[in-house]
Amino acid sequence: MSIIFEQASKTFHLTNGKISYLIKILPNGQLGQLYFGKAIRHQERFDHLLEMTTRSMTACVYEDDDLFSLEHVKQEYPSYGTGDFRHPAVRLLQQNGSAITNFVYESHTVTAGKPALAGLPATYCEADSEAETLCIVLRDALIGVRIELLYTVFADHAAIARSARLVNEGDAAVTIDTAMSLSLDLPDCEYEWVQLSGAWSRERHIHTRKLVPGVQSVESARGNSSHNHNPFVALKRCETTETLGEALGFSLIYSGNFLAQAEVDTWGVTRMTMGINPFAFAWKLEPGEAFQTPEAVVVYSDCGLNGMSQTFHRLYQKRLARGYWRDRPRPILLNNWEATYFDFTVEKLLNIAKTARDQGVELFVLDDGWFGARTSDKAGLGDWVPNPARLPDGIGGLSEQIEALGMKFGLWFEPEMVNKDSDLYRAHPEWVICTPGRSMTHGRHEYVLDFGRREVVDFIFESMAKLLREAKISYIKWDMNRCITEAFSGALPADRQGEVFHRYILGVYDLYDRLTTTFPEVLFESCASGGGRFDPGILYYAPQGWASDDSDAVERLKIQYGTTMCYPVSSIGAHVSIVPNHQVYRITPLETRANVACFGTFGYELDLNRLTEEELAMVREQVAFMKEYRGVLQFGTFYRLLSPFDGNYVAWMAVSEDKKTAIVGWYKILNEVNSFFRRVKLCGLDPALRYRVDGAGVYAGDELMNVGLLTTDSSAGECRGDQKPSRDFDSRLFILKAE
Ligand code: DGJ
Repeated sequence: MSIIFEQASKTFHLTNGKISYLIKILPNGQLGQLYFGKAIRHQERFDHLLEMTTRSMTACVYEDDDLFSLEHVKQEYPSYGTGDFRHPAVRLLQQNGSAITNFVYESHTVTAGKPALAGLPATYCEADSEAETLCIVLRDALIGVRIELLYTVFADHAAIARSARLVNEGDAAVTIDTAMSLSLDLPDCEYEWVQLSGAWSRERHIHTRKLVPGVQSVESARGNSSHNHNPFVALKRCETTETLGEALGFSLIYSGNFLAQAEVDTWGVTRMTMGINPFAFAWKLEPGEAFQTPEAVVVYSDCGLNGMSQTFHRLYQKRLARGYWRDRPRPILLNNWEATYFDFTVEKLLNIAKTARDQGVELFVLDDGWFGARTSDKAGLGDWVPNPARLPDGIGGLSEQIEALGMKFGLWFEPEMVNKDSDLYRAHPEWVICTPGRSMTHGRHEYVLDFGRREVVDFIFESMAKLLREAKISYIKWDMNRCITEAFSGALPADRQGEVFHRYILGVYDLYDRLTTTFPEVLFESCASGGGRFDPGILYYAPQGWASDDSDAVERLKIQYGTTMCYPVSSIGAHVSIVPNHQVYRITPLETRANVACFGTFGYELDLNRLTEEELAMVREQVAFMKEYRGVLQFGTFYRLLSPFDGNYVAWMAVSEDKKTAIVGWYKILNEVNSFFRRVKLCGLDPALRYRVDGAGVYAGDELMNVGLLTTDSSAGECRGDQKPSRDFDSRLFILKAE
């Protein structure tokens, strides 16, 4: 891994043997982008990659150089208005009303390792030898603003992490209208754009379309990254598959309003930008102040989408997620939400917990409804004090009873919200985000606390910390059930109201930081009405997240398949729930529900007392299976094999690091009659090893990958003898062990 600077040609080459990233200081002092992709050998000059030829009579050329128009130059951190008419990476509003800037190279440094970003989540190193960071300093001399562009290249990952820091060293305030984390001009537009979009209960479905001239984007303006779009985009070649071909992945480590955009210009150049959404954003930077953008990560793969995803998985699992739980297999939990909703007593909870304990479940989680006057979603949020009518011995008493059963205890919070019917709101109505004189839109009867105010975060931290100190709490489910409306903070002056959304997220990160630092062994699971804030920013604090409120096994195939585009299996909260399912009323086999959920942080979301003896025996087997294989399932190399977005059959697999163990999940949505003979080609095995496939014989690794694993079931003909009849929503797990 190295970052080379060639003084004569003014070229930076960031490389690690897997990828190369080339930047050149342009004749006007601004930064040009020469190349990002598969590693190439170093040369002193790559000047020929700088295409300066003006392409049209309408080009606005730079000063008196007829050959230099910013409109035609691929750039690194462009501004708008001096010849380039595409969307910029940076736009600053100045006191005289101008937004024109000219950021030119001033200096650079290369350091071992990777610096932390103040107040923001980011990838990190554990040793300086793991990465190198280039900081290029640009300056606009007229307004005295300096920009530090950070580029980290990792020794072991085909990824570059980027961010920007703006420092006002001038003597007048400027307002940041746009400050993207990443801007990358790619020389062509022969790509398909892959986005993860959906809605509540159908998060992160994969949508793919060809890039076309003009702007295409996904964004959030809701205050959270959202159910609707994820801060992730891939650009893949049309011929790229899961296992072959080029793909670029773009991911923003941020949980608030974001924009991910591709602008294809008239000459087929693609400008990718990613960062805080400039819409509804304006940040005033006084002299002496600095602004740090979130970090964006760009990944290159020439091994298809699986290659891209595996780079994200490894990087995010090992160098974004942190702490005690980062590398530990996750506890098998039972959450009472779908078992009881708000209707519970201590007796009922203990009864559910005992039965779960008897099947081997390790953690009991008490969800919503234990605090304040909370017996429905109309009251209580903000009052993080146990309700004595429901929990006479408090959370302390209940947690001790659960631990006496031999289980760990977990608790639900929704720290950022308040109900009007709460002591907190009655005492501090001014702590809510709302606009003076306007009506207050609510979501699920909730209002958003102004986490931009330090005293609000202090208060919530103290309420939560008190419980964490007093009771035996090993796990927290941190929920967040509404978006921000009427964004306005009573604590900010008029010219800073554009800062409300970002200050809010900084407050959320601050609370997460304080809690995870003070209680390092508590496992945090993020949640936002399911997967409404399932993003890399939150993953830095909470190593797992409830992927969706939709727990139906068939729906979950799409949700989990899409989620793995960017996020590791160890981060995907997945539970077995009751049938008929509470979201789609579908009845799926218990086996299939577990076979889907085991590719996640496994648990149950139901009252096991409602199952038959036969079903409970299955649950015991599932729990035992999960305990034996969760290391491979959650931390192995994950491959998508057959997509639920393409057909009736779905398959994926996880392979252990030593390639000696693999688990294949195979799923059929609807049953078929007299159907095809089928086999699925596996990935990631050792071609030279022979694998015993549980209950199905011994096969060579190369055969399983090149010929395939036979998955033909009785739908290919009539059932004979003791052959198990196949059915709708069928599934099988194949356990492969090297002999
Ligand atoms: C929404 C979450 O996604 C659910 O899992 C549950 O915790 C409810 N909130 C509780 O109100």
